[in-house]
Amino acid sequence: MTEMRERIIVALDTDAHTALALARTLQGKVEWLKVGMTLYYAEGPEIVTKLREMGFKIFVDLKLNDIPHQVEGAAREISRLGASMFTVHAAGGRAMMEAAVKGACESSQECGLDTPDVIAVTVLTSIHDDDLAAIGVGGSSAAQVERLAKLAREAGVQGVVCSPLEAARMRELLGLEALVVTPGVRPAGSDAGDQSRIATPAQAVAAGASHLVIGRPITGSDEPGAAVDRIVSEG
Ligand code: C5P
Repeated sequence: MTEMRERIIVALDTDAHTALALARTLQGKVEWLKVGMTLYYAEGPEIVTKLREMGFKIFVDLKLNDIPHQVEGAAREISRLGASMFTVHAAGGRAMMEAAVKGACESSQECGLDTPDVIAVTVLTSIHDDDLAAIGVGGSSAAQVERLAKLAREAGVQGVVCSPLEAARMRELLGLEALVVTPGVRPAGSDAGDQSRIATPAQAVAAGASHLVIGRPITGSDEPGAAVDRIVSEG
């Protein structure tokens, strides 16, 4: 059985200096770090290499969405950096997701690296049904999440990002092998901040999450390592 410590992905939504200091504190405490748009666009691809060289697995969360040729190229470059997981928007369509998988497989093989898992973002949790209607998508966000998750499965990606409240349905739809990555995780008794659809780490895993993206409850703590230990002992 996978241990809670192996499931935690710490989101480093900070500047590079803070990110590297956090990474040093978290060595031996977690396996995964997430580099999102803010850190990546500020520091460039080297931040992925630096964190990887410290021994972490890196989740590059840039939510790719472009024509298949461009996404295949981006997937090749992300894979060459040694990322272990990266995101694409399922709304970019089947051919685009297939291009991401192809780029990741080919490039990692050429470089002799492990092939990163491609993870599809379905509907951002910041989007409401009204927002979907405004961009011409009829029906509920729940229906759209399911439609895009099925498309992602057909395209051959390895998993999806979703809220903990959608994790059980995603697990049912995608099967036991799929990766189900959930942000919006808050340890019992901690501040929810701007997250609204939240669950505790144990609840998220019970619902079917394979990985938990946790940011501020760890990165905002005076003792990030101890915050991880508390989450692990809770779970
Ligand atoms: O600090 P916190 O634990 O809220 O961070 C959660 C991380 O997950 C952030 O990096 C945020 O961008 C990401 N995320 C999210 N909700 C989504 C998708 C991603 O909070 N629906």
